[in-house]
Amino acid sequence: MPLLDNRTCIITGGAGSLGLAAAKLFLDEGANVALVDLSVRALEQAAETLPRDRVLLVAADVSRKLDAEAYVAKTVERFGPIDILFSNAGNFGTVAPIEDYPEDIFDQVQQVHVKGAFLAAKYAVPYMRDGGSIVITSSVAGMRGDPGVYAYITAKHAQIGLMRCLAKELAPRKIRVNTIHPGPIDNGFQLNVEKGLGEAIGGDGTAFFNAMIPLGRHGTAEEVARSVLYLASDQSSFVTGTTLMVDGGMSI
Ligand SMILES: NC(=O)c1ccc[n+]([C@@H]2O[C@H](COP(=O)([O-])OP(=O)(O)OC[C@H]3O[C@@H](n4cnc5c(N)ncnc54)[C@H](O)[C@@H]3O)[C@@H](O)[C@H]2O)c1
Repeated sequence: MPLLDNRTCIITGGAGSLGLAAAKLFLDEGANVALVDLSVRALEQAAETLPRDRVLLVAADVSRKLDAEAYVAKTVERFGPIDILFSNAGNFGTVAPIEDYPEDIFDQVQQVHVKGAFLAAKYAVPYMRDGGSIVITSSVAGMRGDPGVYAYITAKHAQIGLMRCLAKELAPRKIRVNTIHPGPIDNGFQLNVEKGLGEAIGGDGTAFFNAMIPLGRHGTAEEVARSVLYLASDQSSFVTGTTLMVDGGMSI
């Protein structure tokens, strides 16, 4: 029996690396999936190889209330009540000393990760079936501090607070809520971070991260997706309010 047979799932950041990897796995497990991301074009491209009869594409900015209401409504209209919300959209911001950190970039990053995950829950929960699952993509950055990474690290910590409040509030409905914490993943998002770091340190940004990871390598989007599937499915039926590290031991 597939793990997500006929379940309705929303994935934000669905045109991106981790969102799309999770979508593929969810679809393999029998789910219906709404992919939410900023651009129709990126969504169309991402969905090229997906079974379109079980996929809905919705262009939306997760940080906007009206967009959040709309992607939830469109999902429910097409597939029925929601079983799984994977709040995963993200941006990185920049790295700068505190006195130089741009206030507008700080705000933009909180808007996407924190307000975006808040609005997703606010508008999806009333349409969620009891027994559902919410997974929020935080990061290993939600567990540590690093100089200059003010917006991203603050946002990734804040998502844990949101998750814990939701986990307690929704437990009577048996809706489980967890955060997932990937370490550096071998994809464009991380490569971008590493390019900036490489320039700042005058060395290889990728090697710099690998040296911090006990397993000695970056993870893959598929490895993260398998952990998301675990939290999304009934395989994790007694797991709520937890922070699941998928980071090769980087946070030890
Ligand atoms: N790649 C890594 O190494 C890594 C590690 C830890 C955590 N993460 C987190 O994983 C999540 C997914 O990142 P990814 O690696 O797949 O990167 P990605 O850039 O491939 O995907 C992120 C997606 O989010 C979308 N997005 C950004 N702002 C949005 C908004 N306002 N509304 C809707 N969509 C928006 C982007 O368009 C993009 O498609 C992010 O939350 C990121 O912080 C990534």
